[in-house]
Amino acid sequence: MSADLPSGFWSGWIIVLTLFSLACVAWLVWSLYFGKDIDEHPEVEPVWDGNLQEGHNAPPLWWFWMIFGALVFSLMYMMFFPALGSNAGILNWSHGKRLSDSYENFDANFAGVRAEIVSMSLVEIQNDLDLMDTAERIFRRECSVCHGPEGRGQANLFPNLHDVDWQWGASAEQIEQSIRGGRSANMIAWQAMLGEEGVEQVAEYILTLDVGGDASLPGQAVYQQSCTACHGPDGAGNPLLGAPRLSDDIWLYGGDFETIKASITNGRFGIMPAFGHRLDDVQIKLLIALLVR
Ligand code: HEC
Ligand code: HEC
Repeated sequence: MSADLPSGFWSGWIIVLTLFSLACVAWLVWSLYFGKDIDEHPEVEPVWDGNLQEGHNAPPLWWFWMIFGALVFSLMYMMFFPALGSNAGILNWSHGKRLSDSYENFDANFAGVRAEIVSMSLVEIQNDLDLMDTAERIFRRECSVCHGPEGRGQANLFPNLHDVDWQWGASAEQIEQSIRGGRSANMIAWQAMLGEEGVEQVAEYILTLDVGGDASLPGQAVYQQSCTACHGPDGAGNPLLGAPRLSDDIWLYGGDFETIKASITNGRFGIMPAFGHRLDDVQIKLLIALLVR
């Protein structure tokens, strides 16, 4: 609390202002009910519209008790809780402390379960339906905005995480790395280097990679020269670079001729954000168990 205020002077000043305003309110209410001028009203009453005149009935007495109660409540509140300047109050209560208490309770409640999960193998986790439920909840909360509610991919931008094709590798270690550190793919734009014709030729050639590549196509030479370094001579891809397999029927951005052309022309720069600082080890382990085959 005291950290919010620049100095003891300001805190003291706020205390004075607060107490002074309360005293003023108390005095005002008291004088309204018990001040003696209420019955005297010596001045001549103005009369409007023929018979409209100010009344002189005191407000009902229960109003007084209500306001009095509120004043007493305020004073008590300020005694017990941090409400007066930087004064912490008798109970020493604070939002920050309440939060850290609830974290401590949470940790104490779940420490046992967490230790158990850490010692379990991925297969054991996969066989525990409750844990897999939890994993799915984490996935829905953290990952589904991009990868879709079931992780089946989305919008030809976010990969399907349940197919057999893994851009960055399918092992538990590789998946862990994808989640913890994030991934950023870098496939440069080829338009300037290959020209429109070169792009079309190599796109045509890529579409034959699923049957081993049609060597009679002019695109083969282009592919061998420019693409094999990352995608491999037969289009198998390279998980170290996140270069996807081009010889299957699974495409991130789309497998029709126009989309493949667009991928080559403009390049692709998919980014998987890092979750290592956002999720803890147990949560990450559960997610790996959910994704790995
Ligand atoms: C420096 C490495 C590198 C080189 C060289 C490279 N690529 Fe790529 N390519 C990648 C990466 C990485 C991706 C994934 C991009 C992403 O996920 O955003 C990719 C993605 C693609 C895709 C989209 C695949 C999909 O699933 O939608 C196509 C098509 C493609 N590359 C074709 C080519 C062609 C044709 C060449 C040669 C002209 C080439 N690439 C050269 C690294 C490379
Ligand atoms: C902001 C969007 C976004 C969120 C949120 C996100 N991802 Fe991703 N993820 C991506 C993109 C985009 C890629 C593909 C990167 C590329 O092009 O190489 C990716 C790739 C991956 C890969 C690698 C896939 C492969 O084929 O190798 C894994 C694994 C993955 N994400 C898991 C997760 C998990 C688990 C979560 C939740 C904790 C998550 N992602 C949350 C956008 C996201």
